[in-house]
Amino acid sequence: MSAGAGVFSLHDRVAIVTGASRGIGHAIARGLAGAGATVFGLGRSPAAQGDAAAFLYRTCDVTDSTAFGSLVEEIFAGQGRIDVLVNAAGITLPAQAAGDPSAAFRQTIECNLTAVFECCRVVVPCMLRGGYGSIINVTSIGAALGFPGNPGYVASKGGLAALTRALALDHSAQGVRVNNLVPGYVRTAMTEGSYADPERRQARAARTMLGRWGEADELAGAAIFLASPASSYVTGTDLYVDGGWAAKGL
Ligand SMILES: NC(=O)c1ccc[n+]([C@@H]2O[C@H](COP(=O)([O-])OP(=O)(O)OC[C@H]3O[C@@H](n4cnc5c(N)ncnc54)[C@H](OP(=O)(O)O)[C@@H]3O)[C@@H](O)[C@H]2O)c1
Repeated sequence: MSAGAGVFSLHDRVAIVTGASRGIGHAIARGLAGAGATVFGLGRSPAAQGDAAAFLYRTCDVTDSTAFGSLVEEIFAGQGRIDVLVNAAGITLPAQAAGDPSAAFRQTIECNLTAVFECCRVVVPCMLRGGYGSIINVTSIGAALGFPGNPGYVASKGGLAALTRALALDHSAQGVRVNNLVPGYVRTAMTEGSYADPERRQARAARTMLGRWGEADELAGAAIFLASPASSYVTGTDLYVDGGWAAKGL
């Protein structure tokens, strides 16, 4: 393959991005569309927030595998291919806010881990029929590091990182690549509590090498790389977009 801007092109590719009603998934959906893909962005909300003109928004709860399966069938029937799946839908239920820690743990695993497995199961056969496949799972620095008060989230992201490696191997012979996209602290609805608290906001910024929080749009370039032929020899790995959080000692 020759080097150049062409390898980053998603022209004629069809992508599904879960968790696209806002935040990181929304930014990735816009980014993939900007690189030329036809993008279907999913969320439970009736509409996506902000400027979602670049992609096609569909209401879908990813924990409902029947609904997700029907939607994928409809997209494949209309488009004739599905090339890229970005699993960005995620929830966090901090233990102190959850009335029932066991229920919160199970609910988090259901959305952040089990649903990703089911979505991949549904989409991979479409990728095989189209002859191209890249799956991007949005994990977290919490996949590899301990964070307090949220065991379900940490366990779900650690499990998701491991699921990526398992699926990358299982689908390697079929040419479907599976990778983790690993955000650090990014300013979204999910992190609005710690961003609003000056002490926690500053502590998280200071913990990075770059000295600041990330913006959701800063995840889009890495997603384009992993979705496109630019990453044709990349599978089963973690791409950190964390301002240097995970690499920092002192
Ligand atoms: N922000 C960070 O600092 C950070 C750091 C590391 C990893 N992440 C990960 O990045 C991903 C996106 O998070 P974010 O920060 O952008 O949070 P966010 O603003 O809260 O967005 C979460 C998205 O997931 C969707 N979602 C949640 N449950 C869903 C379900 N059952 N079915 C379909 N969609 C669902 C939400 O849409 P609806 O509410 O409309 O369903 C929303 O679009 C998550 O996986 C998160 O764990 C975030």
